[in-house]
Amino acid sequence: MSEDRIRELVDQMTLAEQVSLLSGEDIWSLPAIARLGIHKLRVTDGPNGARGGGGLVGGVKSAAFPVGIALGATWNTELVKEVGSALADEVKSKGAHVSLSPTVNIHRSVTNGRNFECYSEDPVLTAQLSGAFIAGLQEQGIAATIKHFVGNESEIERTTIDSMIDERTLREVYLIPFEHAVKVAGTWGIMSSYNRLNGTYTSENEWLLTQVLRNEWHYSGIVMSDWFGSHATAATVNAGLDIEMPGPPRDRGQKLVDAVAAGEVSADMVRERALNVLRLIDRTGAIDDERPYEERADDRPAHRALIRRAGAEGTVLLQNHGLLPLDPATVGRVAVIGPNAKTAQIMGGGSAQLNPHYAVSPWDGLAAVFGEGRLSYAIGATNHRYEPRLEQRFDVEFFNSPDLSGEPVHRGEQQGGEIFLFGYVAPGITDRQVWSARYSTDYVPAYTGEHRVGVLSAGFTRAKVDGRLVADNWGGHWKAGRSFFEEGSDEVVGTIYLEAGRSYRVELEFGKKPFRILDFSAARIGIGLPLGDKAIAAAAALARDADVAIVCVGRTGEWDTEGSDLLDIKLPGRQDELVSAVARVNRRTIVVLQTGGPVEMPWLDDVAAVVQSWYPGQEAGNSIADVLTGAAEPGGRLPQSFPVRWNDNPVHSQDREIYPGLAGKVRYEEGVFVGYRHYDRQGIAPLFPFGFGLGYTSFELSDLAVDDSRFEADGAVSVYVTLANIGARAGSEVVQLYVGDESSSVPRPAKELKAFAKVQLAAGETARVKLELGERDFAFYSVEAKHWVVEPGAFTLMVGTSAADIRLSAQIRRNNRVLIPV
Ligand code: BGC
Repeated sequence: MSEDRIRELVDQMTLAEQVSLLSGEDIWSLPAIARLGIHKLRVTDGPNGARGGGGLVGGVKSAAFPVGIALGATWNTELVKEVGSALADEVKSKGAHVSLSPTVNIHRSVTNGRNFECYSEDPVLTAQLSGAFIAGLQEQGIAATIKHFVGNESEIERTTIDSMIDERTLREVYLIPFEHAVKVAGTWGIMSSYNRLNGTYTSENEWLLTQVLRNEWHYSGIVMSDWFGSHATAATVNAGLDIEMPGPPRDRGQKLVDAVAAGEVSADMVRERALNVLRLIDRTGAIDDERPYEERADDRPAHRALIRRAGAEGTVLLQNHGLLPLDPATVGRVAVIGPNAKTAQIMGGGSAQLNPHYAVSPWDGLAAVFGEGRLSYAIGATNHRYEPRLEQRFDVEFFNSPDLSGEPVHRGEQQGGEIFLFGYVAPGITDRQVWSARYSTDYVPAYTGEHRVGVLSAGFTRAKVDGRLVADNWGGHWKAGRSFFEEGSDEVVGTIYLEAGRSYRVELEFGKKPFRILDFSAARIGIGLPLGDKAIAAAAALARDADVAIVCVGRTGEWDTEGSDLLDIKLPGRQDELVSAVARVNRRTIVVLQTGGPVEMPWLDDVAAVVQSWYPGQEAGNSIADVLTGAAEPGGRLPQSFPVRWNDNPVHSQDREIYPGLAGKVRYEEGVFVGYRHYDRQGIAPLFPFGFGLGYTSFELSDLAVDDSRFEADGAVSVYVTLANIGARAGSEVVQLYVGDESSSVPRPAKELKAFAKVQLAAGETARVKLELGERDFAFYSVEAKHWVVEPGAFTLMVGTSAADIRLSAQIRRNNRVLIPV
């Protein structure tokens, strides 16, 4: 539809109709306006798949793609575009028009719980990859909603925290992916973040939403709030927030109509916001989408293959003392050890979760290539944060009282020991703020011994076994903790001796309690049997008798999750001890790490190989097996520096003002020195640097040539370098171009990534690689000049294969000073 037609249509609307477009109707949709033939617009989470309108865990099945950091590790814009395009199919299969993705906040701290969802510590890598992802989505007619705009780099107090970021740092680091999404990728949607930015909620920050976004960047799409992230009527509308989510409206609807009548918001302002929303409804085709709403589970072979390939391309080979790749024909007996061996860790936690079509564990993937006969298994240690969730069926009784008193008003069933209720509760519940329920099941333990029963909840809970209270998280016992998006408690654990084979009646009692910011009810019950020295010894015994030991360790979506930051970057539980015990008895030990970011590796010198495979989606085990056997090249390069220890990270500090924040404020004091910029400045050698990753072949870089004939005139510089695969196998390398400003008048990083190319070469093949730079690639942002500034002097162009491995460099000079408008 033409812009003129969109304007005409908006002008046919009453004020109330325009206002109706500015809030959700329900959690995942905007209302239709039947009188004008405008149909509903539906949105769905999230960045690694399309979850649809069901619950966080139990909705219609979907394809699970690699998470953001795994895509970040591919450094492959074409591949990430393919993923975006496949995700568009998934969004369509869920009857939606808008994907709530990609997530592009920057890996500022290694402990941010949501780093797994984001691409990188580097703004340019993040921008290039997320831009490709957006293009993949939008070329298929599905809108992207790049998020969270801006300054959401930690999850602590995330709905209220004030991110104190100076303007230069914002412009040079945190805004870059959004600027690229608007100016280059042409995103149709942006989601504001929960946090405040320099004192004002981003959802009502006029500088951000109007001055920068609309006036400077000329954005024509929509800005929607994060879920419950709008806190005002006039302030959000006037600042530039188009849509309040989710619905039904809290700040808008009649309140906004009244605000117009009171002169707090002008009718023109409402019209402008409605125009933006209608443009989105038109761009996505939702405007005349008459299909009956349905959600399908389309398990497509093409998606399976893409996910498997992308998983391997994101896998980073960190160390290899000649053991990998393993030859399936000659490998012998393989001990597969660790908590992540038989459990497929395919995604992180929070709103990016979905119900996957299937999940291939490392064990399954290895069994498919080696045959189960050659494999043996021991768990060795656990890595859960919470006691293992009960996965069986529960009977449920609902009560119209806060404490399970009175007669049940409804009886139903529930699969699994986790509930998450957003809105509707059950038939017969008259007040969603006052209700309770009893979830009961018969539990038969497999082992005899002291068991741990754990409950955590947004709401009150207590667990009983055969009528005996074991874990009490009710009333005064409930304390706010780090679960369920900061609405929940920490886990409360009680112990009880149980006998194998006997049946016990387990009851989880739930009572709704007043919410803090997000109105939902959630609870989880798990029962576990602690593992001790014996389990580690058994794993070591298995490894001693094997030819190769593959130890699958890491974290899970309970740790790498929205709503909660990590307390440190050590492998949880006794996994470090497990790796060391195995390495002591078998020198041919391979560690397969699955985490959403770096971990300390005290055992690194004792193992033969380390592979980092993040959370690569539903094909996890197949991608891992492909890399271990060499069926696929480990194509990944680190999108985040891995420090030796957490203390080396720029924002590790005993000063909580810097991270995770104090008195409601988090100060970005390191400024532009994030990630490798910090390690360079401090002279700290990371364990593995940004951009690093090994392959199964070797590359040589040579013959650097620079064409700077236009540098002085318009800033364009072309860099040429020859890449040769000098090994015996095909493989890929990422050629990275960093720029250093040698004569700047302001403190600048020693080097900044400005361009890169991922190149695939056959054995013996050579390619001439061209990388192009523009004027902005040499500039810093001057708050005084309100412009990007390129100063006269020398610039070093550094070409290498990581931030710590620069192979070739050249200097260019210019004599003039240039101001580039924002
Ligand atoms: C998250 C968003 C997400 C939204 C809807 C919020 O908690 O921060 O990223 O899209 O929920 O699920």
